[in-house]
Amino acid sequence: MRIPLIAGNWKLHKTLDESAQLVRTLVADLADLHDREIVVAPVFTALATVAAAVNGSTLRLAAQNCYPATTGAYTGEVSPLLLKDVGCSYVIVGHSERRQLLGENDAFINQKAKACIAAGLKVILCIGETLVERETDRMLDVLNRQVSDGLNGISADEMAGVVIAYEPVWAIGTGVTASDEQAQETHAFVRGLLQGLYNPEIAATTRIIYGGSVKPNNIDGLMAQEDIDGALVGGASLKAEDFIRIARFV
Ligand code: 13P
Repeated sequence: MRIPLIAGNWKLHKTLDESAQLVRTLVADLADLHDREIVVAPVFTALATVAAAVNGSTLRLAAQNCYPATTGAYTGEVSPLLLKDVGCSYVIVGHSERRQLLGENDAFINQKAKACIAAGLKVILCIGETLVERETDRMLDVLNRQVSDGLNGISADEMAGVVIAYEPVWAIGTGVTASDEQAQETHAFVRGLLQGLYNPEIAATTRIIYGGSVKPNNIDGLMAQEDIDGALVGGASLKAEDFIRIARFV
């Protein structure tokens, strides 16, 4: 019922040539996978190049961010309309790096999510607690706020275009992954939130993917969990061999 989604978030990595080389390898080596969705999110400057390479393939293109306006005096920003125009299917919003480094809050992230949906793009909405929040028993409150404020005003019908990425901040880029059990428990909690905000059908059909030090050696255990529907992969998505193994989870 929920098609698994494996997404590579390349963050601020790779030149045009490097991006083209990596995506060409992925397109060739993952062409036989039809029971899952594979997505790559390069830097803005590589979107057009990567779009040309994934065109006609099984891979889909994502942007790492957007600005919630269509056109106008917004120096330095990129709109969902333009991301669609360049060939994106998805946009990542609310990544913890943007929340922490650029001060993005839930209301702004919600505007971005709605702007993407209005432009016909799918959204990967990132949520996740810091280590301090987890250790001081604030994790569930934080996730509840991020999910309910992030999805504010998004209808049940529009939820077909939303994926939630649970990325505990303490697991991002640290080599420390949430255990299979920790991740499963949190995903089940988030699914419960969707049931409360929407209904049992939305809870059952919305994909909730895990991110935070996903590697070839832990993907299979994570994907075996009932409520884990995929992965948002950072570091390991930069190496073709590793990302291919993750995409080929069993
Ligand atoms: P790492 O896989 O490098 O921990 O990054 C996870 C992430 O932030 C993906 O968006």
